[in-house]
Amino acid sequence: MVHRVLGVSDICLTVLFLPFLQGVDILDPGEVVYSESRTNGVVGHAVILECGPTLPDVYIWGFTEPGTDTIRAVVYNFGKGPKLQKLAKDLGDLTVISNSASLSIEKLPMAAEGVYTCQALYDTTEGARLYYYYVYLRVLVPVTKPYILMSDPSPVEGTSVIMRCGLENGTGPIHYIWEQESREGQFTTMDESNDNNLFNLTEVIRNHTGWYRCIASNQVNEQRSDRIWLDIIFGPDLPQINVTPFSVTERGYSALERETVSLLCQASSNPPSQYVWFYNNSQVYTGPQFTITKILRMHTGHYACLAQNNYLNTRSKKTITLTVYYPPDGAPSCSILPVNNYSDLALHCSWEGGVPAASLRWSPYVFGDESEGFTNITKIQTGPDIANNSLFICQGSHVAQNEISSCSARTWMPSGEPKCSAYATRNNEYLMLSCSWEGGFPRALLWWASSLGDMQGTSEQNANILVLRSSTTYSGKAFVCHGKHLLAKETKQCVLKLEAPVLVTQRSMMSVYEGSDVQLTCILSKNYPVTEITWYNNLKQHVDNIPMKYILDRAAAWTNLTVRETDSETDSGEYWCSATNAVGGAEIPVMLMVKRYPMPPNLTISRIIYNSRHRTDVDLEWLPQTDGDFTGFFIERQRLPDPVKKRSSDPPWQKLVDLDPDARSYQVNSLDPTGTYVFRITAINHRTIGNPSEIKSPADPPFNAYPAVIGAAIGGMIIATIATVLLFMFVVRNRNNNPRLHDLIFGRQNSQSRENINFPEDEVVGRGEGDRGPGESSPSDSPGPSMALPRPTATPTNLPPGEEPVNVTITVMASS
Ligand SMILES: *[C@@H]1O[C@H](CO)[C@@H](O)[C@H](O)[C@H]1NC(C)=O
Ligand SMILES: *[C@@H]1O[C@H](CO)[C@@H](O)[C@H](O)[C@H]1NC(C)=O
Ligand SMILES: *[C@@H]1O[C@H](CO)[C@@H](O)[C@H](O)[C@H]1NC(C)=O
Ligand SMILES: *[C@@H]1O[C@H](CO)[C@@H](O)[C@H](O)[C@H]1NC(C)=O
Ligand SMILES: *[C@@H]1O[C@H](CO)[C@@H](O)[C@H](O)[C@H]1NC(C)=O
Ligand SMILES: *[C@@H]1O[C@H](CO)[C@@H](O)[C@H](O)[C@H]1NC(C)=O
Ligand SMILES: *[C@@H]1O[C@H](CO)[C@@H](O)[C@H](O)[C@H]1NC(C)=O
Ligand SMILES: *[C@@H]1O[C@H](CO)[C@@H](O)[C@H](O)[C@H]1NC(C)=O
Repeated sequence: MVHRVLGVSDICLTVLFLPFLQGVDILDPGEVVYSESRTNGVVGHAVILECGPTLPDVYIWGFTEPGTDTIRAVVYNFGKGPKLQKLAKDLGDLTVISNSASLSIEKLPMAAEGVYTCQALYDTTEGARLYYYYVYLRVLVPVTKPYILMSDPSPVEGTSVIMRCGLENGTGPIHYIWEQESREGQFTTMDESNDNNLFNLTEVIRNHTGWYRCIASNQVNEQRSDRIWLDIIFGPDLPQINVTPFSVTERGYSALERETVSLLCQASSNPPSQYVWFYNNSQVYTGPQFTITKILRMHTGHYACLAQNNYLNTRSKKTITLTVYYPPDGAPSCSILPVNNYSDLALHCSWEGGVPAASLRWSPYVFGDESEGFTNITKIQTGPDIANNSLFICQGSHVAQNEISSCSARTWMPSGEPKCSAYATRNNEYLMLSCSWEGGFPRALLWWASSLGDMQGTSEQNANILVLRSSTTYSGKAFVCHGKHLLAKETKQCVLKLEAPVLVTQRSMMSVYEGSDVQLTCILSKNYPVTEITWYNNLKQHVDNIPMKYILDRAAAWTNLTVRETDSETDSGEYWCSATNAVGGAEIPVMLMVKRYPMPPNLTISRIIYNSRHRTDVDLEWLPQTDGDFTGFFIERQRLPDPVKKRSSDPPWQKLVDLDPDARSYQVNSLDPTGTYVFRITAINHRTIGNPSEIKSPADPPFNAYPAVIGAAIGGMIIATIATVLLFMFVVRNRNNNPRLHDLIFGRQNSQSRENINFPEDEVVGRGEGDRGPGESSPSDSPGPSMALPRPTATPTNLPPGEEPVNVTITVMASS
């Protein structure tokens, strides 16, 4: 602009001063002086344009509008005062300052801008001087208050934003400053430029969020815009999860059961995030803080926080693993087991369940061995190193449990040794070898071995029963039961020796007089397993089944058989003493001979007579015919039938009385005087009954009568006597079957008597029949001596000696 004004001035000069040169007498003006100056004025304000330091004699102000060449006059003064031209009105409140040629413009309008030329003529002593003053006036406009325009007031992070600092008026050059206001009200300059009102944020970040203002300034003034908010939209970022109480493990977060656990999710976002919580992929809560009061073990799992920016419709998610810790139920359990062939002890401790695994520790604690661990631990201890009665304690601790739980086990060794015994099953089918060693912890191990050392069967704890099929091959063999306890280095043992029974008797032959009791003895000398003696009678019958006849007396080794009231007919013979155990059997015979007493002597009735005519009492006297033993007498009578009546059967002999061996006479009383009687007397020696005496009728004292009657009676008497003898014999032989009949006829006084028993001097010893198998040993099976004796019969043909039919002597006495 300046240059353009200057460029024009040369042309104007000639035109402007032509009138002056023609009318005024101007001396040689000499050279024209040119002076240029610049003045700035602010629109609406005052400005002074100077034309030389002193008042010239003549001056003229011209004005050239910018962009034109034309100089137009504004005011002049040819000595008669200043004369304002019309144009001056357009240039504001223009006045000429008195006593000078300077122009004063009040309220400078924009139109006043241009080149002002003051042509001044000074009439000096040296001559007139012409000055050209060029004053370049700029009218400056102050900046108005700027305003901010944003391309996007809510840009998304990462995009670009352009801010423009808008300005209505203001003379350039304009300086722009962009400021951001911090939270604290501090301003930071973000950008600064001249004449560029744009602020280019090519990639916004969230830190760009805030208040912005621009400051525009020029030569005149400076103006600030109002604040404007730039809101950066972003997020959500990857959420952060805070777990309270805080506890991290290698597998994630952990919490103790029943605690209150709070999960706080935070994800930076604008606008702020919306939060949704998921447990194992199912939605459980909406909001940033998810609180679980009294968390339980079943709440273990994956917790995910989803943060959403609803404006951007973006989301982000973070998942954590939360493990709920809880202790195992109950207490640890201890067990102690033998290992390594019963030489070592395994201490097991187990406490299962619980998260995380419970930690266990054996006490006494030994560093370096397996004394510590989790859930299941096993500590091995060398058995014999452990003292008797040692206590081992396993302590379990868990992070979710304050107190320590424990279990304990005590090891101890039973005292003494194992105990052995043998017995057999019923019928000696099996042999059982029993071994026991009770007590102890852990329990002792027992096993059987033969005497050669071979193990038999299996090994067992505390008790071991070895079952063997019975066999005679075991007789004489030994079996050893070994007992091993962990705490002892050495094994202990007990020994069994199996032996078949061996039987001995004191006397293998016994003889005894009949009627007495006799005792047969049998001794069991070797015998294992223990068994009992069994007695069989002469008919090979088991004596236990006949209790009245046989009595058994048992002592440790003895078993005596008493045969009661021996009878010469039935009780003689071989008796068997027998014993059988699982490894063999034995039996020995004992011979018993029951002897009869000798026949008493025959008797003679020396006197038989009624002692009165009344025929009610009879006096009897008798004498033994020979010497011999006898123990008594008995008297019998027979009432003969009435000869008139027909005789149907023989009248019976009626026993009247038993008498002492000293008696030689007897009076029979209370007879029927009308009856006819006969009498006889018999001697007895214990049970041996002698021959009856001759049969005699009593005689009347002085009277001789009845020969016919007696004669008739004789025939009947012979038959009756034979029948009576047969009856006696039958009764004697069957006295066991008909004891009452026997006693009726013979009386009881002889049955209890004991007589001398003769013992043979030799002993019979029955040796064990070792090669007999079990089960075959029953005496009833073995072909023992047959003891079938002839049974007494009613017919007298087979009678043994001493009981043969008796010759009957009938003597008919006729008293003179
Ligand atoms: C800007 O200038 C124009 C013309 O010069 C004027 O009309 C207007 O009032 C001015 N605006 C301000 C805010 O000064
Ligand atoms: C702002 O900056 C970007 C990247 O530098 C450019 O592409 C863009 O043209 C600029 N905009 C303005 C108005 O200067
Ligand atoms: C954003 O501002 C914060 C603090 O005001 C600062 O720590 C961070 O580094 C800034 N981030 C960037 C990308 O400039
Ligand atoms: C949740 O997931 C965890 C890990 O997969 C699992 O142990 C837990 O049983 C699950 N919980 C439910 C209720 O399904
Ligand atoms: C186990 O111990 C017993 C005696 O203590 C011994 O006889 C046997 O040979 C041992 N067995 C093994 C497999 O060591
Ligand atoms: C071991 O101790 C227990 C308990 O005190 C006791 O009964 C047992 O007899 C002891 N054993 C030995 C071999 O001393
Ligand atoms: C068996 O008899 C013998 C000899 O008579 C006798 O010594 C023994 O004591 C008797 N035993 C019993 C148990 O009666
Ligand atoms: C005894 O009497 C019987 C017959 O009555 C006779 O056979 C026997 O010879 C007599 N004995 C003596 C020693 O006279």
